[in-house]
Amino acid sequence: MERQWWKEAVVYQIYPRSFQDSNGDGIGDLAGISSRLDYLKHLGVDVLWISPFFKSPNDDNGYDISDYREIMTEFGTMAEFDELVAGIHARGMKLVMDLVVNHSSDEHAWFQASRQSRTNPWADYYIWKDPRPEGGPPNDWQSIFSGSAWEYVPERGQYYLHLFSPKQPDLNWDNPAVRREIHEMMKFWLDKGVDGFRMDVINLISKSFAADPEGEDLYFQGPRLHEYLQEMNRNVLAGRNLLTVGECPGASPEDAIDFTAPERGELTMIFTFEHMDLDSGPGGKWDFREFAMPALRENLSRWQLSLHERGWNSLYLNNHDQPRMVSRFGDDRRYPKESAKLLAHVVHFLEGTPYIYQGEELGMTNLNIEGLDDLRDLESINAWHDLVEARSLFTPEHMMEAIRRKGRDNARTPMQWDDSPQAGFTTGQPWIRVNPNYQWINAAQQLSDPDSVLQYYRRILSLRRELPVMVYGRFEPLFPDHPSLFAWERILGEERLIVVNNFSAEPTPVDLSGIARQGEFELFLANYSDFRLSPDGRYELRPYEGFVLYNEAHEREDQDVSGR
Ligand code: NOJ
Repeated sequence: MERQWWKEAVVYQIYPRSFQDSNGDGIGDLAGISSRLDYLKHLGVDVLWISPFFKSPNDDNGYDISDYREIMTEFGTMAEFDELVAGIHARGMKLVMDLVVNHSSDEHAWFQASRQSRTNPWADYYIWKDPRPEGGPPNDWQSIFSGSAWEYVPERGQYYLHLFSPKQPDLNWDNPAVRREIHEMMKFWLDKGVDGFRMDVINLISKSFAADPEGEDLYFQGPRLHEYLQEMNRNVLAGRNLLTVGECPGASPEDAIDFTAPERGELTMIFTFEHMDLDSGPGGKWDFREFAMPALRENLSRWQLSLHERGWNSLYLNNHDQPRMVSRFGDDRRYPKESAKLLAHVVHFLEGTPYIYQGEELGMTNLNIEGLDDLRDLESINAWHDLVEARSLFTPEHMMEAIRRKGRDNARTPMQWDDSPQAGFTTGQPWIRVNPNYQWINAAQQLSDPDSVLQYYRRILSLRRELPVMVYGRFEPLFPDHPSLFAWERILGEERLIVVNNFSAEPTPVDLSGIARQGEFELFLANYSDFRLSPDGRYELRPYEGFVLYNEAHEREDQDVSGR
């Protein structure tokens, strides 16, 4: 398999609004990120993906851009951006920016012009349709943020499409002028030093209205999607050796291969959502279900086996749109630290490029959302109004519990730097409540605690740099039908890793005698520091215990496996 820097890298996602405030206005900013680069370097990550930092009225916290070439006022200045890039590069790290081009803000100059008439030069920059003959929106598409996906504009006597909020009108990619503008904008940022793009909902850019105008989901992966990505690749990306990751809700492993097979010239990897939907019922995200590990194992294993040597995986268990992984997939009350380290095995020992979401390396948890006053995210607020108040589909109790489990604000609470007021995030009033557990879950404490989640992440990241099998090894499932074990092998030539994880609070026996011959393997990593190799290959795993074995005598100065 071809070696690539972006396969070997570990990416760290920063949600700038919540990372570090430098001027006391309660909102994180670019200078704040610059002040924490040494922390990130020390952690050992290679790439920073920073969520949007462009000019925006912040209807959706920067995912609604009103000027693609300006810095968001709250986040600072272009000079501060240049300093940040220089600081990242000086430390040998790279920067991936968020490319949000399925839609812009309605306050973007293009939209302001487009909405005026059907004939102006920007008239076709967005997706405008006439009302149905009997009146009303052109079709029944629903916005992902609740309500109709169409908004009427009297000046044109037409509706525009917004798959997200009405303040996020969808750009018309079928217009070559729009594609040209986007390509030029991408080059502008490449010239400023960015090393790649995370492409927001990129598989929605081509819409199909033809087949069934009343149908749902026709906006996913429309007929010209791959044409547009290949064109973008030819015009902008090719020859620059960038990391490009497409956010692709609804994509299957087969779709992922279409996006990422190197010979197709599109993207280097995509974000799948299949594993993020496993705790949702037929009613969608808010129709929550209990998490069941076997479904996660089945799903991730399928992606592993399908993409090997055909495409490339990205690996993540949380981000700014998802609940915290420890609260969702682990036990954040009884075994928070064990679960956080166990879940790190899943992200870092499968084949693909791992993504760490800010605070994950500390084992940050969901916020115990107490009521509507805690909410900042328009998705949750709109869903409450729509599903509880307007349509009575859910009881207030159900919906509040759903938001507590799944709401995006869980991930957006301020980064927990230390145990000073507001967790060291700001000297002012934070824009969103700090999770009260910052007093015992924070970076300062974990930097000095050899057994902390943070030190475990540092250990894993340094191992990845040493061992090609962690990056390029083939995945093979172990015990695929076990009720609580998620275990697998990675194999590269003679090198083998065996990863065994107990996703349960119950003691769980495992017998590796038929898999790992005695004397052949050594202990590589374990989330209980007193784990010992057993001569007969039989273990009883403790709650949320996991370990990794390696079959090569491995020269390491530090033989301690506990993450120090
Ligand atoms: C996906 C982003 O990650 C999310 O935060 C945003 O709300 C939507 N796309 C719309 O841009």
